[in-house]
Amino acid sequence: MRLDSSERERLREMVAGVVKKHHVDIGGHSYTKPSSKVYEQQWLWDSCFHAIIHLDLGDSEQARSEIRAMLSRQVADGPDAGMVPHMNYFTGGGEALWGTPDRSGITQPPMLGSAVREIARRAGDMGFVREVFEPLCRYYSWLAARRDPDGDDLVSIIHPWESGWDNSQRWDELAGFGEDEERNKAIRNEMCARLKGLGFDSAAALAAGWFDVEPVDFNCIYAENLAALAWCAQELGFADTACDFAERARRVRKAIRSKMRDPATGLYFDIARIGGEERHIRVETPAMFFPLFAGVPTAGEAPALVRRLLSPSSFWPRYPVPTVSMEDPRFAPDRYWRGTTWVNINWFVMQGLLLYGFREAAEGLARRTVDLVLQNSLWEYYDPRTGRGLGAEDLSWSGLVIDMITLAET
Ligand code: GLC
Repeated sequence: MRLDSSERERLREMVAGVVKKHHVDIGGHSYTKPSSKVYEQQWLWDSCFHAIIHLDLGDSEQARSEIRAMLSRQVADGPDAGMVPHMNYFTGGGEALWGTPDRSGITQPPMLGSAVREIARRAGDMGFVREVFEPLCRYYSWLAARRDPDGDDLVSIIHPWESGWDNSQRWDELAGFGEDEERNKAIRNEMCARLKGLGFDSAAALAAGWFDVEPVDFNCIYAENLAALAWCAQELGFADTACDFAERARRVRKAIRSKMRDPATGLYFDIARIGGEERHIRVETPAMFFPLFAGVPTAGEAPALVRRLLSPSSFWPRYPVPTVSMEDPRFAPDRYWRGTTWVNINWFVMQGLLLYGFREAAEGLARRTVDLVLQNSLWEYYDPRTGRGLGAEDLSWSGLVIDMITLAET
């Protein structure tokens, strides 16, 4: 990818400044908060992205700290022992929403395995992998044991917050979301209160059937992270465990392909379970491209997905990738998860393109993301047509733009 050294330097300075500003040292832990105002706590997938950003900035110690802090609130006992919460509160304050002062009661896309593998690969640190391997195994075993009641190898989420795409049109029908942001927020809080009434017990929540979704992207991340753990186990010399994780990853990929892929279009959709019946949530979003990231489609199936991605009328405006197809009548270029462009989503999509050899498209996406950030600086999300920054200013994970450069150059 063509990037001059002054552009590279500017981006690096911008990202380094933001993560420095958001550095938190508390109670023997340190982590990077997502932003100064709206997001003061530690979030699970954010911290995994931050770990990767710190590696790009050459600070592997801070990368390790993000993961250690995240694991410090792993659920120790009870039916959901092993769960890693999606939020840690190091100064308390979680009680009202969750009934637990120091952590939330739900999880988020399981990126820990990949983040740890990257620390091992890029910082050459197997000692750290050894240190966190057992808690990681417990987390991924918890997902399999508690979030897959139908035993189809795909895991379910119990609240839109667990997807990381809090306000997406993917959840409109099931959660009752619409155009009114405040109402959507109230619904999310209500859904949380109902789960709190069940003590956030995964089995009870899924049995209640209020919100039971097997999301495409969450499951692709799950598969890729099981593969990352297979790599870690192999490097640690645990050959049997490595085979076991590799087999689990294979089964999840197979289930994604057989249950989520729509044979007529080759596109992938989330599965909702409603009243014991399963059906596809047919909303076109970039979650459809995550199977590329997880190595799910055959080489012959991948081009159809990439054609859809590169279509200027659906997913390829000036600043791709909007979080819903622009052809969806609900597309909203300035709304939270309802059509805006997010750097973390671009980072996943780019890796899928690289894995299947679509280097030109991958570099094109990196270049446009670089331009987006150079012109507008770091924001939580952006208008895909104009590039205007929206949501929280200086959002830390948008620093993944520098990892997109690393990916384009390796
Ligand atoms: C919002 C996002 C979620 C993210 C959090 C912190 O809630 O929807 O994905 O983890 O902010 O950045």
